[in-house]
Amino acid sequence: MRLNIFSCMTIALAAMNIGATTLALRSEEAMQHPALQAGSTIHDSSNVQTGAPHEGAAATREYVLKPWRSLRAHLHNKIIHIPIGFALSGFFLSLIALRWREVEPAVRWLVLVAAIGSLCAYLTGSNQAALLEGGSKDWVIQLHQKLGIATALVLWVWTVTCWVRRLNRWSFLIGGIAVTLLTFTGFFGGVIAHG
Ligand code: HEM
Repeated sequence: MRLNIFSCMTIALAAMNIGATTLALRSEEAMQHPALQAGSTIHDSSNVQTGAPHEGAAATREYVLKPWRSLRAHLHNKIIHIPIGFALSGFFLSLIALRWREVEPAVRWLVLVAAIGSLCAYLTGSNQAALLEGGSKDWVIQLHQKLGIATALVLWVWTVTCWVRRLNRWSFLIGGIAVTLLTFTGFFGGVIAHG
């Protein structure tokens, strides 16, 4: 009886060993499978679409750049640099304009481009948000969306106050509000994208 239990354990261990070896060999075979080799379909830039890095075997493979595809993926994450960059530059320059009024035309153009950029940010953001619906960050997306809309509206009001002479006296105050909203919007956008 004792011998039988010992034999059973030995056989079970041997079976496990054979099983593990077979699995290891199979995965090694799989690594050399043509489907995982360079030029195969897995060798594309689909990680650009999902944002998720390929794991395991694919992670060690050389990245193939598909410029047009990369350009279109995550459009919102690219576009938002326009309102952020132009609005911050516009506000910085409007500080300088308090002393040197000759830079005011530059402020007007910077703020206009920021406002147009915010419209594009709204459109691309709404599009991307639809892909993330139903996740645990839903409330952050909702908040970011509301702040984004508010930012875009205030950027347009800032533009009007910059371009309409009799409203010029309000432009610095409205610019300050726009930049503050932009900062919060950007912060929550970063939370959605990076946690
Ligand atoms: C002026 C308006 C907006 C600004 C400045 C803005 C800014 C940002 C920023 C800075 C990020 C992080 C990007 C990164 O780290 O790569 C982001 C992400 C995001 N924003 Fe916006 N946003 C705006 C409007 C909107 C709107 C209206 C929506 C609609 C819901 C939206 C939806 C999203 C989504 C879903 C992400 C995550 C994208 C991803 O990584 O997959 N945004 N936004």
